Amino acid sequence: MVYNFNAGPAMLPREVLLSAQENLIDFKGNGLSIIEASHRSSMYEEVHNEAIANIRKIYELPDDFEVLFLQGGASMQFAMVPLNLYQGGTIEFCDTGAWSSKAIKEVDILGYNYKIAASAKESGYDHIPQVNFSSSADYAYITSNNTIYGTQYKTFPKTKSPLVVDASSDIFSYPIDWENVDCLFAGAQKNAGPSGVTLVIIRKSLLERVSESVPTMLRYKTHAKANSLYNTPPTFGIYLIGLTLKWIESQGGIRSIQEYNAKKAALLYDVIDQSDGFYIGHAKPEARSHMNVTFTIHDQSLEAKLLEKAAQNGMIGLKGHRSVGGLRASIYNAMRLEGVQALASLLEDFAKENR
Ligand SMILES: Cc1ncc(COP(=O)(O)O)c(C=O)c1O
Repeated sequence: MVYNFNAGPAMLPREVLLSAQENLIDFKGNGLSIIEASHRSSMYEEVHNEAIANIRKIYELPDDFEVLFLQGGASMQFAMVPLNLYQGGTIEFCDTGAWSSKAIKEVDILGYNYKIAASAKESGYDHIPQVNFSSSADYAYITSNNTIYGTQYKTFPKTKSPLVVDASSDIFSYPIDWENVDCLFAGAQKNAGPSGVTLVIIRKSLLERVSESVPTMLRYKTHAKANSLYNTPPTFGIYLIGLTLKWIESQGGIRSIQEYNAKKAALLYDVIDQSDGFYIGHAKPEARSHMNVTFTIHDQSLEAKLLEKAAQNGMIGLKGHRSVGGLRASIYNAMRLEGVQALASLLEDFAKENR
């Protein structure tokens, strides 16, 4: 097996894959696979409701929030969020990179009023800017972890307007203060499960905002009313999400996961900081992501050589996003400390050999 540092779809816990494998053909003695089961069957419904219950438990979610399983990726949410939450006022964004910009673009296409309250664009999205959202916005919008640039909020901005969070690349990696968050969404394929499922966690009161002109499938309310079974949901993906949440619980819950992730990230940032400029981290230290560690080599011509050496040692997925280049190690929840230690040693050796 390789150490998989891909940004997403990303590695899943081995225990999750083994459990899925064990039950793949004959699900818990039912004589058929969960993939083959009707989404209206009790066999599937149990899996579906258990996944939702596991999310509620791990995230300590208050009762006035709804958990939805949708499709279309996080990218679909860039349009669904404004379609459901815009009220003719202003949407306020904190622009921290390509994914925030794509969310802004959809609002622009819809012709809704918006304001960029803060942006990190000028400095190549290397930090999380200070942002003061107004108290009168229809909603305020942030991207909690910037997968491409390797920056992450350490705390979310406090705001009186409803706060919407794109948590695609750091969902389930730290506890959320639900007093301050009103809608959180994520494509599942990094920290929650396989691609094909989009998770939306939304305060119930916000469901009432949607206007009658929004098509049925694009309304959160449709899916909330039907317990995400309005149409055929991505059943197998939801099953895997349920298993992933159970795995988080088996690791001691979300606070243990958070600590473990901090330890993993520190290993790599230490190598970068102690390399005497051989490696250059992209994110400013105070904004460093615990999920995606982004860096370059002072002599960029060495990057291909490093990637080759990593591949020879069973480490894949370390190339930076095509829009920014460089290198990126994605170390989501499922990446074990051993994998990060192996990468840290490889980076140290490589720096010594190529100075
Ligand atoms: C922070 C963030 N938002 C949104 C997306 C888009 O997700 P999807 O491919 O599920 O549409 C990504 C994908 O990498 C992401 O990292």
